[in-house]
Amino acid sequence: MREELEALRKQAVELLDAAADLDGLRELKIKYLGKKGPMTEILRGMGKLSAEERPRIGQIVNDIKSELTGIIEKKTEELEAKALEYKLAHEKVDITLPGRQPAHGHLHPITLTLREIKKIFMRMGFDVKEGPEIENDYFNFEALNLPKDHPARDMQDTFYITNEYLLRTQTSPIQARTMQSLEPNTPIRMIAPGTVYRCDYDATHSPMFHQVEGLVVDKNISLADLKGTLELFLKEIFGSSVKVRLRPSYFPFTEPSVEVDISCVICGGKGCRVCKNSGWLEILGSGMVHPNVLRMSGYDPDLMTGFAFGMGVERIAMLKYGIDDLRLFFENDLRFVHQFR
Ligand code: DAH
Repeated sequence: MREELEALRKQAVELLDAAADLDGLRELKIKYLGKKGPMTEILRGMGKLSAEERPRIGQIVNDIKSELTGIIEKKTEELEAKALEYKLAHEKVDITLPGRQPAHGHLHPITLTLREIKKIFMRMGFDVKEGPEIENDYFNFEALNLPKDHPARDMQDTFYITNEYLLRTQTSPIQARTMQSLEPNTPIRMIAPGTVYRCDYDATHSPMFHQVEGLVVDKNISLADLKGTLELFLKEIFGSSVKVRLRPSYFPFTEPSVEVDISCVICGGKGCRVCKNSGWLEILGSGMVHPNVLRMSGYDPDLMTGFAFGMGVERIAMLKYGIDDLRLFFENDLRFVHQFR
């Protein structure tokens, strides 16, 4: 039995020494030290041994076991170090390579247009304000010179939540909210972008859309300031060759009121389907802030004057990108959205 054990030991040591990788080593460990290994086999025959011989053989078996365990541990360390060395040598990361752009989508054309509008006005020193989408009757209508029985409310028929609260039909309430948040007669230069809601649905109207409101109030603000500011804005967004004209109009919160047109960006003013052969496109509403609106929000119309404007973001995006159906913005068809990188 001693010879058997010695032969086994020799064989195991040789094989372990020759092991070239961690997997091979693991197999040898199971083979020689595992429960079903030859060592166990030999020990089965212990019953035949004398009482003195038995503990000696036991001792030899334990010695072999600890010798092999030691070799395996040492060898494991060696092979692990080798594997790491190999990895370090072969898996170098070139940190100077340019990064890969992860495919996580891009901005919606409405967001792109909104950002561009904001950027232009911020360069002119405008603040960006916000207001709630669930608005009360007072701010959405009353404070804008639209009392309860005013016929112009019909044009903005909308979604009421209660008699008092509704989804705002325009961003104009932020005019009154801004004035009322300030000391009376504080000069204002702000725009207010946001989502608005109306009962409309066709190729150029959606029940949910976006507007950007603007309000400038100070001493001696005139219609010339309105014209200059909007002309600069429109030339920035549609290109410097665009022509701008003002037409008399009506809004309850401005007096006088104007409709601002630009020369058709599709045909250059010659006349086409988009401009209905007029050569002009209606682009936004504007006017001098009505004295009632200033007064209701605590401003003195004898001291302060101002102009206001409101534009539809979808309309601007449609003209900018040549989109003929507004509903495309909200259908989430990737073939559409992917065109605006
Ligand atoms: N609130 C108007 C609308 O939704 C747009 C508008 C017109 C806003 C004239 C203004 C303005 O501030 O002065 O139709």
